[in-house]
Amino acid sequence: MKVLVVGKGAREHALCWRFSQSPKVWGLFCASGNPGISRIATPIDIEPDDIGALLRFAESQKIDLTVVGPENPLALGIVDEFERQGLPIFGPTKAAAQLEVSKSFAKTLMREAGVPTAEWESFEDPDAARRYVKARRRPLVVKADGLALGKGVTVCDDPDSALAAIAAAMEEKCFGEAGTRVILEERLTGEELSFFALCNGENALALGVVQDYKAAFDGDRGPNTGGMGAYCPVPRYDRQFEQRVMDQIVHPTLTAMAARGTPFKGVLFAGLMLDSDRITVLEFNVRFGDPECEPLMMRFEGDLAEALLAVTEGHFEQASVKLSSRSAATVVLASGGYPGEYATGLPIAGLEHIDGAEPSQLKVKWAIDRVRVKAFHAGTALRDGRLITGGGRVLAVTAMAASLERALGAAYEAAAMINFEGKQLRNDIGRRAVESAGSQQ
Ligand code: AMP
Ligand code: GLY
Repeated sequence: MKVLVVGKGAREHALCWRFSQSPKVWGLFCASGNPGISRIATPIDIEPDDIGALLRFAESQKIDLTVVGPENPLALGIVDEFERQGLPIFGPTKAAAQLEVSKSFAKTLMREAGVPTAEWESFEDPDAARRYVKARRRPLVVKADGLALGKGVTVCDDPDSALAAIAAAMEEKCFGEAGTRVILEERLTGEELSFFALCNGENALALGVVQDYKAAFDGDRGPNTGGMGAYCPVPRYDRQFEQRVMDQIVHPTLTAMAARGTPFKGVLFAGLMLDSDRITVLEFNVRFGDPECEPLMMRFEGDLAEALLAVTEGHFEQASVKLSSRSAATVVLASGGYPGEYATGLPIAGLEHIDGAEPSQLKVKWAIDRVRVKAFHAGTALRDGRLITGGGRVLAVTAMAASLERALGAAYEAAAMINFEGKQLRNDIGRRAVESAGSQQ
């Protein structure tokens, strides 16, 4: 099989890495890729949003399966274009991608499908939105309706901050057209988790729950980022919990999407809020999460190409979708200052301790402990053959081991070996889960 992966971050590196281990895959391409991906896949110099060029490439190369990482090409209709030409592609159509692209669409669908979500109202008139804020007593969340690079959500402590967020989105146009319509919703409290399911339009298979870390700094402080770390499985969330999410959320969503004539194919990513026994959907995404994809791909045991092709063709091969019972954890190394302003072009040192051919002491120790470690590239670049930083999130250091504690230990050992000026990371990924497991023993 010839596989094309669309995207250029650590999520796509993890997908390519898993594809590169499939005996069925003899041609692997990535558009546009990054220096880490280029070691295992042929880089194609086409931007992920350039659908016309991607289509021409896939046709000329007779690509058997295209897998899309980021949401933008999906929102632009890459799947519709490929399907029209009879090219197999894993992901939702433009109409089905509305689940992520428009928050009011997602909320309306959840209402129709009886999927539990925070109480909400949508507004196109800022004065009406302000009246709603004044009439409400409870804390609110203000969300720009459209795609806003993950920045369109303001969790408000008081009415004044809600009013300011409405003005910023609707009048100051901070998020451009994405803020023409705004959702005001009840602010929920609890624990957040990411849930992933592979969907073929009618049916779904659970990939499971992943814990991610959105805030920039330890203790969930600081601004929200694209994600600073992740791990799975999450100890307290077992098969029974997964089944509840499938029954209460995934299946009703698929049924409602199919009933509208826009069946959902691809990976459904539900952002969940858990409060004692209540599961609520905060948002849907229509793609793998980043960094959630990295620990998931570490644990994926089946043949990824076979599995995603089967889903794309509408049937499931249950046997090819299997995750290891071991734990995997990702620690993101970011540029100093991220998610605000940061420098790029800084030399990265130490990756050879993890990826190089030399058998280092650390590698021997990991081999004895049966630990697997990979540094997936997020924002890296090459200058004169040397690896430099090239983005906010630079590397997603991922390890898999028999327990979460060991996986985290190895990921942090590896993270400490890699250096670049201003390296920023969270030191508390998975800490609470490990501590609470320890206190239960
Ligand atoms: P979203 O893009 O809708 O997932 O929102 C981004 C982040 O805002 C989420 O990960 C939550 O941390 C927070 N958030 C969104 N909706 C709510 C809500 N109703 N109550 C509390 N926090 C929320
Ligand atoms: N980690 C969250 C996301 O990919 O949107």
